[in-house]
Amino acid sequence: MNYKIALIRGDGIGPEIVHEAVGVLDKVGEKFGHTFTYVDVLLGGCATDAVGKSYPDGTAEVCKSCDAVLLGAVGGPKWGSDKPAEQRPETALLAIRKDLGLYANLRPAALRPALAEACPLKKETAEKGIDLMMVRELTGGVYFGKRDRYDTPDRGVECTDLMAYSEMEIERIGRRAFEMARLRRKKVSSVDKANVLETSRLWRSVMHRLAEEYPDVAYEDVLVDNCAMQLVRDPGQFDVVVTENMFGDILSDEASMITGSIGLLPSASMGDTAPALYEPIHGSAPDIAGQDKANPIATILSVAMMLRYSFQLSAEADAVEQAVDQALADGWRTADIAKPGEDIIGTRRMGQIIRDNI
Ligand code: IPM
Ligand code: MG
Repeated sequence: MNYKIALIRGDGIGPEIVHEAVGVLDKVGEKFGHTFTYVDVLLGGCATDAVGKSYPDGTAEVCKSCDAVLLGAVGGPKWGSDKPAEQRPETALLAIRKDLGLYANLRPAALRPALAEACPLKKETAEKGIDLMMVRELTGGVYFGKRDRYDTPDRGVECTDLMAYSEMEIERIGRRAFEMARLRRKKVSSVDKANVLETSRLWRSVMHRLAEEYPDVAYEDVLVDNCAMQLVRDPGQFDVVVTENMFGDILSDEASMITGSIGLLPSASMGDTAPALYEPIHGSAPDIAGQDKANPIATILSVAMMLRYSFQLSAEADAVEQAVDQALADGWRTADIAKPGEDIIGTRRMGQIIRDNI
């Protein structure tokens, strides 16, 4: 089969890690008899530098002509929050999510066996294992609500960000979570703030309706503050965690940290139609950009998710994941996951080792 993939290399370490992930795809292609062709798409701070805006016209159309999108990372201090919206990389990221209809963001957080010691939690907690799937709503809520900024006569400037959710938006992400749970350990934890927010009360009632449709899946409501606490107290209790956009942004960083390194975790963002978008959950790490120091594993595992979810190539996805686990089991470490005194390898070497393992 031939698959066409849009590559958004982006900013900072983005180009280096995408390069390694593409090398892995090509190796998979060689080994399993597929052809991957690539289309470069300019988006992020690099696009601002090149054409004056972070989300050039036609970006969504080019992506839509592809079977999947791979994104490295976008952002950096050069294009900070003091810049106009159209120049900021984050604007482009939100726009592409919206334009491609990518409402479901899957962020697996699993403690890989070879790295159990990297878990910052108590040993007894880590030993129970961590293997959860964060399902984050990605195109609604306060991220996309109406914003306002105005002067008041006596309180200075005032701003508002509106958080809105419809039953339709909640139901479609909820369904994703229940379906995902059926493929895993059959438990859904729905996270909200129903003791305060009206959007959360609606969220909860829609989730309860869905829970009745999936009687084989265990279901619980968890308040977001409690969830933050449970993630460090006993993360092993979670299987699928489903939540709205901003809660998911915050909790997914927390979930990634307890697995030891943010440099290891992939993500998939999908809608009802192709293409889905795959990216590491970490940022562009401008401090180490261009130095062959970044860990390419999160991007390589994102490619495994692409093979599995967009192309239904599960043997190929397994091969990539096993190649990563093998590299880690053999003791290969980039700087972010090395213990003091351990030998460190660079981005390119790690990519090569994983390719050789396939
Ligand atoms: C993420 C990031 C983005 C988000 C930023 C860069 C806009 O933090 O993907 O989690 O908040 O969604
Ligand atoms: Mg985030």
